[in-house]
Amino acid sequence: MSKNFLVYFLLWILLQVLVDVNCQLTPFKPSGMFRHTATFIDNKLYILSGSETSTGNIIREFFYLDVSIPFNTQELSWKDLSKISIVPFHTDAVSAKSGAKNDTLFLYGGLSSVSTMALVYTFDPQHIVWNSQVTTEINATRKYGLTGVIDYSGKLYLWGGISNNIIVNDMLIFDTINFSWGKGSSVNAPTQRYHFGATLLPNNKIIYMGGVDDITSSFYIETLYISKGTALSLKEVYIYDTINDNWDTKITTGKIPSNRSGFSTILGLDGQRIIIYGGVFNDPGGYVDTTLYVLDLTNFNWDIPKITGNTIPKPRAWHKANVISKYMVITFGYGYNRAVDSDILLLDISNNEEYVWTTSFDPSVPKSSPPPSSSQTSNNSSDNSKMVGAIVGSLLSGIFLSVGGFFLYKWNKKRQSQNNINNYNNHGQEKAIPTEGSKNENITNHEAVSAIVNNDNYYGQEVVTTPTSDGFKFFKFLNKK
Ligand SMILES: *[C@@H]1O[C@H](CO)[C@@H](O)[C@H](O)[C@H]1NC(C)=O
Ligand SMILES: *[C@@H]1O[C@H](CO)[C@@H](O)[C@H](O)[C@H]1NC(C)=O
Ligand SMILES: *[C@@H]1O[C@H](CO)[C@@H](O)[C@H](O)[C@H]1NC(C)=O
Ligand SMILES: *[C@@H]1O[C@H](CO)[C@@H](O)[C@H](O)[C@H]1NC(C)=O
Repeated sequence: MSKNFLVYFLLWILLQVLVDVNCQLTPFKPSGMFRHTATFIDNKLYILSGSETSTGNIIREFFYLDVSIPFNTQELSWKDLSKISIVPFHTDAVSAKSGAKNDTLFLYGGLSSVSTMALVYTFDPQHIVWNSQVTTEINATRKYGLTGVIDYSGKLYLWGGISNNIIVNDMLIFDTINFSWGKGSSVNAPTQRYHFGATLLPNNKIIYMGGVDDITSSFYIETLYISKGTALSLKEVYIYDTINDNWDTKITTGKIPSNRSGFSTILGLDGQRIIIYGGVFNDPGGYVDTTLYVLDLTNFNWDIPKITGNTIPKPRAWHKANVISKYMVITFGYGYNRAVDSDILLLDISNNEEYVWTTSFDPSVPKSSPPPSSSQTSNNSSDNSKMVGAIVGSLLSGIFLSVGGFFLYKWNKKRQSQNNINNYNNHGQEKAIPTEGSKNENITNHEAVSAIVNNDNYYGQEVVTTPTSDGFKFFKFLNKK
């Protein structure tokens, strides 16, 4: 008995060492992407899928950044989990941290090149396993291009977006605790739109703003200015009350941002302001800054915050923004040069009088709301065990390498067969996952085709994108001489 235990213990140590070494040897370089999802769970920021910036092709990558340790945005040590993902190629989906234990990644909807893509997937970070979920509500439709919002009780609010090629303004509600679907009110809801901003407020209301419904609009790639047509106004913002299921409209004042879509919104650390960043926008008409604005929730007045920092990053659109520690953490997006700007931008928002662009992330700063003690305990214990593992392991690894190699082989084999079982369960017949980008031959429906870059025209000097009649061909590059 105890002998068995010892063997397992040593084997476990060896695995820790080998996995760590393996991670260090193979740094992961993700594609440049936008319209991805970014989900923060237990000190890890998970990035999933999206569209590739250089081609517009839908990609299939899944990776994370450990933010429990300090990092510099110039040296990001992404950890790749693409191999374990069962989620097909897709872009513009909704993700949230929620579920019964509030530690599960939920993925809803998205524009996919695979017709069998499930409506809902979950990722369990503890066991590093994805599952597709069967949900039965017949009226639960697939949507994409929306900004989903999770509330404090585990309900995911899926308003607006694009469904069956139609821009909609219906409120779909998915309960991530008991997996039931519901509908919210559309009375006094904003007009239909996609790529809008949405954020949960401390009073259980959701604020919606901006977006686009003009399917003829286009923008300049260099400046992200809308060159033709318009995005929607941010003069009006819309408040959905999740408790009473009703809508309200607020007229804002101050330095109202110009019409825009594809921007991000977060709640300030004090819960009293919304910070918006980036997007494609109409001419701001005299304002100096065109990318960062703050909406004061006490009086609905817009202002441009004071911003300092070494370098002001180039603006981007269709990125994601998460609040982590004292930072607004912006991931990927369209419009920046990866050779110059990092895939992650950090804005220190701890001081409302002055926000600071920074490149170094310091996790030690206490959050405004402390994390649950359970997650801290598990982190500490896993850190400790890792350290013990590393020390003991490096002493013994030479001796046990051959033994460990054998066990590792067996373990891998077992894991692989388990994965296969999972794949069969989740996909039925569709086990073969495409290995290349969303090539045209994989695209079967009109919606998916529209998300693909029209490469033929990709040599214009002054490029604009022209959404076509379905509104979503983002990258028709025109040669404007
Ligand atoms: C689905 O939606 C239609 C139209 O809104 C409604 O008449 C029908 O009752 C709904 N079905 C279910 C099962 O909720
Ligand atoms: C899940 O955690 C978040 C904080 O990350 C919290 O605001 C939310 O209320 C929690 N949800 C549930 C259902 O407990
Ligand atoms: C799921 O939970 C919600 C409350 O969060 C409740 O209103 C709803 O009836 C439940 N649905 C089912 C099918 O149990
Ligand atoms: C901004 O959007 C509103 C509709 O939301 C529209 O009426 C207005 O003309 C737009 N403004 C510009 C400058 O495009």
